Amino acid sequence: MLVSAKEMLDKAKAGHYAVGQFNINNLEWTKAILLTAQECNSPVILGVSEGAGKYMTGYKTIVGMVNGMIEELGITVPVALHLDHGSYDHCYKCIEAGFSSVMFDGSHFSIEENVEKTKEIVAAAHAKGVSVEAEVGSIGGEEDGVVGAGECADPNECKAVADLGIDFLAAGIGNIHGKYPANWAGLSFETLDAIQQLTGDMPLVLHGGTGIPTEMIQKAISLGVAKINVNTECQLAFAAATREYIEAGKDQQGKGFDPRKLLAPGTEAIKATVKQKMEIFGSVGKA
Ligand code: 13P
Repeated sequence: MLVSAKEMLDKAKAGHYAVGQFNINNLEWTKAILLTAQECNSPVILGVSEGAGKYMTGYKTIVGMVNGMIEELGITVPVALHLDHGSYDHCYKCIEAGFSSVMFDGSHFSIEENVEKTKEIVAAAHAKGVSVEAEVGSIGGEEDGVVGAGECADPNECKAVADLGIDFLAAGIGNIHGKYPANWAGLSFETLDAIQQLTGDMPLVLHGGTGIPTEMIQKAISLGVAKINVNTECQLAFAAATREYIEAGKDQQGKGFDPRKLLAPGTEAIKATVKQKMEIFGSVGKA
């Protein structure tokens, strides 16, 4: 059964570890992540961007697939199904469809409008036991066509949004989606520390988990980060393993590739990536 992400993240914050959010794009990614979470006895969050939601034909299909897999694979660790960087309308669609968690990304609105809309979404989500993540300060890089500059959030704005009844907060601290450029300045721990001082027990979220050095991840966890999002690293691992399989060209039998065999190496590569992240985040054995 899907659960809201609130309890697992409150526990992670109190226990000084982080739960991974791994984005899903299809059946193979979903299966790989669920099986790895079970093997590691770790809670997990499945992230769905609006683009991935559209690709998988819509939110109801995803809810059906994930619930079916949890039952048929015998998954007993806590699993949250979370809308990643949701617009106002899509948060409502996901709450209706049976997601257990949503992120409202109002970071491109003025702080006043972000506050108003966040309050409305919190009320609708909490009425159904769905957890809510809000964002302050845009996360840099490009994701699903949305380009952010990677600013540092204002700690006072973080406090204002944290007080709206949200369950966890994503704050820009110099992190970006995708690969980090060679001249990246690193995470601003000063900003993170100031945000945590003002927001207290609120679990903080680090987007752009790909390519951040392990020591920085651990320092961020020590300063209140309890959820870390990873997408690009799974994508790179999946693509490399699939490319290698195609280039080896053994499986053609005159009729192309068997699709199940073709996607198997990529699925294994995602499992290895997710396991490594869960070890670094400290969530292994925490289910
Ligand atoms: P990466 O693309 O850096 O893995 O970040 C993913 C993310 O933050 C999804 O919201």
